[in-house]
Amino acid sequence: MATATYAQIDRGRIAELTAREAQRLDERTAGSGRMYERATKALSGGVASSYQLRDPWPIYLERGEGAHVWDVDGNEMIDFHNGFGSMVQGHAHPAISRAVNERIELGTHFAAPTEDAIVVAEELQRRWGLPQWRYTNSGSESTMDAIRIARAKTGRETIVKIFGSYHGHHDYVMVSIGVPYGQIGDRENYASLPYGAGIPQSVADMTIAVPFNDAGAMERRIERLVAEGRPPACVIMEAAMMNLGIVLPEPGYLEAVRELTRKHGIVLIFDEVKTGLCIAPGGATERFGVQPDMVTLAKALGGGLPLGAIGGTDEVMEVVRDGTVFQVGTYNGNPLGVAAARASLLEVMTPDAYTHLDALNEHMLTRCQAVIDKHGLAGYAVGVASKGTVTFSPTKIVDYESFKANQDGELADLAWLYNMNRGVFMTPGREEEWTLSVRHTIEDCDRFVDAFEELADDLMA
Ligand SMILES: Cc1ncc(COP(=O)(O)O)c(C=O)c1O
Repeated sequence: MATATYAQIDRGRIAELTAREAQRLDERTAGSGRMYERATKALSGGVASSYQLRDPWPIYLERGEGAHVWDVDGNEMIDFHNGFGSMVQGHAHPAISRAVNERIELGTHFAAPTEDAIVVAEELQRRWGLPQWRYTNSGSESTMDAIRIARAKTGRETIVKIFGSYHGHHDYVMVSIGVPYGQIGDRENYASLPYGAGIPQSVADMTIAVPFNDAGAMERRIERLVAEGRPPACVIMEAAMMNLGIVLPEPGYLEAVRELTRKHGIVLIFDEVKTGLCIAPGGATERFGVQPDMVTLAKALGGGLPLGAIGGTDEVMEVVRDGTVFQVGTYNGNPLGVAAARASLLEVMTPDAYTHLDALNEHMLTRCQAVIDKHGLAGYAVGVASKGTVTFSPTKIVDYESFKANQDGELADLAWLYNMNRGVFMTPGREEEWTLSVRHTIEDCDRFVDAFEELADDLMA
């Protein structure tokens, strides 16, 4: 990205447009408002997961088809949220619907293995180059089980993660995520801060966070942990961060992490819950060309059904095979989930699908960057395959600290309102990226960019 003098945006103008657009959205979603009133009487906070909360009310959806969703007020929108990046196949894909319908007729749950579980594992093996697989029901279960396997394999307890990264909602990893900026501590020695209440500090203390894109800092922290007699069992990380907008790995970073984890006998886990299946057939592992010891999958794997998976080397997964670790779960490898995954992997997420996603994203990124350049906005467009974002920041974001110090959160909030009022359904939250689906078209993508251009025009008017 170019270093430039950026246009000054009047903060009063942002506030004025935010008030106007918020009011407009409230008026268009009155039915969601009524549903929220009802929901709060039975669902805590009116939602099924706290990540669905929104003030003054969440937008309740009714249905989805292809790249489109409809809310309870009948507003049709193009979906760029795609279930937090789970629906890269698009909604109600005929191949997945057919597979699930056929499976329903044959029985939906046995807690006994079925052939589809083998077919999906064979395909994941082929795509990731990792020989051994197991199933879970969510990304959180995948990361929890992967960490347990790494601990069992190494006989160590400490976990190293990236500061600011999210890996699910269990205690091991609900540490050092979205914390008040002033509390994060020294970059060489970040604090282990529980994310929300109910997480024992003693558990949080076993999880050590280091900055992204800084292999030197990771190595120094690991060396200190070794010297303190608590060497790490694993490094768990996303190869590209997907929860600060998008932060790509700098050249050589992943290779350096691979080398130093190998040197210290640390299991390297790539958490591909967001990247897996969305950025290449073999996820970030394939896209960036660095082979971890384990990967964790979920989200897009199930094509809209709750399914997760863990892949690992023979050496690491031996502790599962020989019964040292109990990798278990009543619904693991559920027949409906693996039927959907089989259809998704073999019929939908084909090489052509990735070519299509790459072309769409290139179009989105190029057009968004052109709007930024034309208006002199402080920001840049960044993405990979189905994923992308416009980051409102005068400097390139490389880690949590640079994100917190530079992101223009008010502008990100306003962009969300602009999208929602112009038929573009986006994930609420300042940290989110778009996910395209194989059912999106260039025209769908243009709708997103047109909304962004209108925002830029109005800001500079
Ligand atoms: C990288 C990553 N890992 C793990 C998870 C947890 O997945 P789940 O919400 O399915 O438990 C998420 C969820 O957003 C994620 O983004």
